[in-house]
Order: sequence, then C-alpha cells, then structure tokens
Amino acid sequence: MISVTFVCLGNICRSPTAELVFKKMVEERGLSLSFDITSYGTSDEEEGNPVYPPSKKTLEAHGIYGGHTAKQLTLRDVVNNDYILVMDSQNLLDVLRLTGGKYGEKIFKLCSFTKNPRDIADPWYTRDFERAFAEITEGCRAFLEYVIKNNRGALEYDARH
Ligand code: 4NP
Repeated sequence: MISVTFVCLGNICRSPTAELVFKKMVEERGLSLSFDITSYGTSDEEEGNPVYPPSKKTLEAHGIYGGHTAKQLTLRDVVNNDYILVMDSQNLLDVLRLTGGKYGEKIFKLCSFTKNPRDIADPWYTRDFERAFAEITEGCRAFLEYVIKNNRGALEYDARH
C-alpha cells in the first residue's frame, strides 16, 4: 500500500481536486487497492467544509465525481504517509515548519514531477479553476508515472493478491 496525501492551504480547492483526479487515474490503471489517497490543508480556516463549488463544478465538467471534507494537516499525517504532495512553495514552507524541517525526503511540490516544475496558482485568488485543474492533472499524471516506476515491486505484489 502506498499512501499519498495532497496538501494545499484551505483543502477546499486544489488538494481535494488533486485527490479526486489522482483517485480516478489510479482506478483507471487498476491500482485502487494499492493506494491510500487523501488531502489536507495547512490552515484550519475551512475545516469541515465541502469542496468549493467552482472546483467541484470543474471536476464534474471533466467527468470526475466525489467529495471531500476539509481537514487540517497534522504532524502525525506527515509521519504516516509515504508521499506528501504540496501545491506551492508556501505550502512547502508551512509543512516543513510543522515538521521542524524533518521528513523533507517525502515532501514534494506536485508539479516537480512534470517537465515544467512550478507552483499551482491558487484558484481561490486567480478564479481560474480550469487552469488549476489542468496543472493538477498534469502533476498527477507525472507523479503516477514516477511512483509506478519507483514502486514496481510493491505494485506488482498488490496486483497478484
Ligand atoms: P486552496 O484554496 O488552498 O486551493 O483550498 C483556498 C481556499 C480557501 C482559502 C484560501 C485558499 N481561504 O483563505 O479561506
């Protein structure tokens, strides 16, 4: 089992979008049983809230359905997950502040797996939900290729059992 946690600021736009996009990709590859996928926010601002309606609408326009309830990331969540994938440089700083600089080896910016590493701009501010969706999809696709390549043994084992 490979545990993947997506992290943004509020956990109502980017990281739940990434969670639902990645779940669908993994499902399409027949690997759902091999992954545990969720998302968190670095802030408690939106805790308990559902996916922000414009993000949900964008996901549904692309045939992706599902929900998420916002929750704040804790140190325990970082310790218990294999990959912590953040959306931007501020998220990275905030997570490293939470861990006291530890666990850096499993904390990545999502777009660092793409050919064009960059921050995923927050659609809460840009209002460009399509762009955020496209960047998140590109990041998830590249991360899935990376993770399959680097965990081939474990994934093949899961597929056999
Ligand atoms: P997210 O967007 O980090 O992509 O979920 C935000 C959502 C809410 C707020 C900030 C960013 N907020 O300040 O409430």
